Amino acid sequence: MRHYAVSLTALGLVAFGWAAMANAATPVTQVTVDTTKPGAPISRQIFGQFAEHLGTGVYGGIWVGKDSPIPNTRGIRNDVVAALKAIKVPNVRWPGGCFADEYHWEKGIGKGPRPVTLNSNWGGVIEPNTFGTDEYMDFLSQIGAASYVSANVGSSTPRETAEWLEYMTSEKETSLAMARRENGHPAPYAVNFLGIGNESWGCGGNMTPEHYADEYRAFSTYAKNYNPEQTGDKRMMKIASGANVDDYNWTETVMKDTQGKEIDGLSLHFYSGFENWPPYQPASGFDETEYAKVIKTALRMDELVTKHSAIMDKYDPQKKVALVVDEWGAWLKNEPGTNPGFLFQQNSQRDAVLAAVTINIFTRHADRVRMANIAQMINVLQAMILTDGDKMVLTPTYHVFKMYVPWQDATFLPVTYDAGTYSHGGVTLPRADIAAAKAKDGKVYVSITNIDPTQPLEVDLDALGLKAKSASGQTLTAPKIDSINTFDKPNTVVPKAISATAEGGKLVLKLAPESVTVVSLD
Ligand code: AHR
Repeated sequence: MRHYAVSLTALGLVAFGWAAMANAATPVTQVTVDTTKPGAPISRQIFGQFAEHLGTGVYGGIWVGKDSPIPNTRGIRNDVVAALKAIKVPNVRWPGGCFADEYHWEKGIGKGPRPVTLNSNWGGVIEPNTFGTDEYMDFLSQIGAASYVSANVGSSTPRETAEWLEYMTSEKETSLAMARRENGHPAPYAVNFLGIGNESWGCGGNMTPEHYADEYRAFSTYAKNYNPEQTGDKRMMKIASGANVDDYNWTETVMKDTQGKEIDGLSLHFYSGFENWPPYQPASGFDETEYAKVIKTALRMDELVTKHSAIMDKYDPQKKVALVVDEWGAWLKNEPGTNPGFLFQQNSQRDAVLAAVTINIFTRHADRVRMANIAQMINVLQAMILTDGDKMVLTPTYHVFKMYVPWQDATFLPVTYDAGTYSHGGVTLPRADIAAAKAKDGKVYVSITNIDPTQPLEVDLDALGLKAKSASGQTLTAPKIDSINTFDKPNTVVPKAISATAEGGKLVLKLAPESVTVVSLD
């Protein structure tokens, strides 16, 4: 077994006053990564984002308009585009959420003034429809992401979805395709993923699963993609509206009633951060008990994915249908003084830990979980980016997504470890969460989250089948349990470089409390 030494300074332990703690005897966690037994591919689509017409998620966060003094390209803010390009966003789910089942796409196209409507779900505010299909596709091309369009099932008809697809994908000279050309887009767009309804058990129509399955089959029949380039591997994937949390009957019924039909994915929505609705945990200014409780809720994702997958296995043993966790993340109390309908919350180091452990769960279920979308990309719930006018700040969650970029389309590697437990306030959690992958660059990456916010974690890493000489990467730590980045202090929680070379034949990593670390082995 090789061992490496990492200095306390590199880890930020000295800077954060944890040197004494780090020197105290803490049990060493033996970690074995088996590079000889690669598992399933980790789809890059699990790093997808969700952007709904909600609060300032789109208006203000993405779209500022062509005449805005905020630097923009065709109305889309340049700072946000640059930040999103850096995390290689694979896909963006749009326009909702609950908004999608009241959205009528025709109102969001055209060069003239567009109809002004109401956003009845989210604050009852005006929806100007200035950001519509063409602006969404422009945004995607600027950040290099695939499209994930959510079709209106709840308050619309298969015809509306069919016509939207014709507008977006037809190359023939139909009136709808000609309209797209007149709007500046001669070539068909790629519609990579089509969501057929959203939360059809709730805001998307309050349907029974039996009724929804009927709707799915009808909508799916007419949801045709005409883009001549979207054939074979590039064909449009159809995703059915899935269960809320542990509604296993929904999964059972929809899987049963759509057998043999065109269904490529079934969604699952699970928000963490609270045990009982409504969300009540503060996004910052919380204590250790609140920290532990929130992380506990997030770890439930593993149980949910396991049980929904087991039901899917009954109907789809070959795992052709993906489990698409297209809404996940921490839903916390909205910031005081903000519109409660805007779901604006701060984002702390706790969210970074939550994101990392959730991503690790997805990698462990990579054979079935082939797409996921954190809610939401900008200014809403567990966001990557917060904006206010011309100001922008990157959240701790953003930094986690950036550290995981090499995991996109990597291959899962099994890891064994026992780090023991961390207990506080009646809550017991695993002390660490560790995952590994072999990336497309040929390197092995290991992600280690120290869940314990009070003790460093010492890891003794052994990579079977690999003659590694060094390790390098980044570690995300924070001065306080609830540290956040603000417009005034944007660099409180940012990753720091970490590297190690072989010493005494061992690789030893000492990781700060409540930290997320991703290293590659060379
Ligand atoms: O992400 C916010 C909302 O949460 C979405 O609109 C809805 O699908 C879910 O209930």
